[in-house]
Amino acid sequence: TGYITLDPGFKNTGAAKSAITFLDGEKGILRYRGYAIEELASKSTFVEVAYLLIYGELPTGNELETFRMTVRRHTLIHEDMKKFFDGFPSKSHPMGLLSALVGALSAFYPESLNAHATEEEEDLTVIQLLAKMPTIVSWIYKKSLGHPLIYPSNDLDYVTNFLNMIFGQRTEQTEIDPVMVSAMNTLLILHADHEQNCSTSTVRIVGSSQANLFASISAGISALWGPLHGGANQAVIEMLEKIKNDGGDCDKWIAKAKDKNDPFRLMGFGHRVYKNFDPRAKIIKKACDEVLEKLGINDPVLEIAKKLENAALNDPYFIERKLYPNVDFYSGIIYRALGFPTDMFTVLFALGRLPGWIAQWREMRTNKEPIGRPRQVYVGAPERNYVDLAKR
Ligand code: CMC
Repeated sequence: TGYITLDPGFKNTGAAKSAITFLDGEKGILRYRGYAIEELASKSTFVEVAYLLIYGELPTGNELETFRMTVRRHTLIHEDMKKFFDGFPSKSHPMGLLSALVGALSAFYPESLNAHATEEEEDLTVIQLLAKMPTIVSWIYKKSLGHPLIYPSNDLDYVTNFLNMIFGQRTEQTEIDPVMVSAMNTLLILHADHEQNCSTSTVRIVGSSQANLFASISAGISALWGPLHGGANQAVIEMLEKIKNDGGDCDKWIAKAKDKNDPFRLMGFGHRVYKNFDPRAKIIKKACDEVLEKLGINDPVLEIAKKLENAALNDPYFIERKLYPNVDFYSGIIYRALGFPTDMFTVLFALGRLPGWIAQWREMRTNKEPIGRPRQVYVGAPERNYVDLAKR
């Protein structure tokens, strides 16, 4: 069996060669297919970035139009899927529902089960998922409110359609504020891929057994849910509110985060790869100020966030360990300003990460990667004889 290298948490193990996302954690650089995240966030749209990640190049005008039209054709979900929404308790965490519903898509679209699908057949599954995800997400939200579901309006673009299904009224076509559309586009673009993180690695490893796309993405959604990964955006707001309600003493909470006997960690701080500012956090922090100003919102939690960030950035514990705010530190404040409840934040992360997961799943298949199967170092009991129940 040979010598096995142990690397818990895969801190130094490369699992794949990938041409999708470039990340330099020391310098704080992030690029999708060679394009700087700063440029994409300010100039592109989420749909265009999805195309770029999945197909490798920025689309021409025609390609983008065809892509948009194809996605629009698939925004409806099978009516029988509504029974799932009825079956779950209305207070279920939306991430549990999302993972279940995405997994269930394979039952309604069984073409996806063909492990040897042609490129065209595979592409259809990809488009179906991209198209149906906003519908599923918004229906989860509407159900949690006990409100009637809103069907997709295919005259609207991807992001406006999503926000309309979330915030629209069934009886009238509510105009979605362009400030909200633009903020949502930026956030989704910033979340769209992040190379071999926990959920993406999960998608690749599940897909490496030739499991279908829906099953692989459903597993990725479950991996994203945890508070050390995508669940951090919900945890950050809960932490900031706690600090606010506790009198706003940031130093006290910094001390807790540094105390090794206290399980509390500063949520939204630190990153496996970034040992410098997370470039996404920089963009989000700026967007946060702009969005709140444009929407005329004064959120006291933003003040706490800034105070806490400042205190941490000047504290030797955080300096020595190179702990900086990550993407999740400020994103929740924008989601809140847009009107999303806290437990929907991680679902929005999943909606943004979807193109990245899909691109990575496709790349893994195109490169014919072998099944993911880590080894171990066995440290259990040596061989021993079975003891009959009566003698134990
Ligand atoms: N608060 C306090 N101490 C921290 C924190 C934090 N947020 N993050 C890391 N540390 C300490 C940690 O205790 C360790 O200290 P020591 O060397 O004394 O044992 C040192 O910094 C290195 O941390 P680590 O846990 O070995 O680093 P990791 O790469 O295994 O973990 C992380 C990375 C993101 C899980 C971790 O920084 C963390 O738990 N952060 C809070 C949760 C969070 O914000 N997650 C979102 C990550 S970014 C986007 C995403 O993936 O969704």
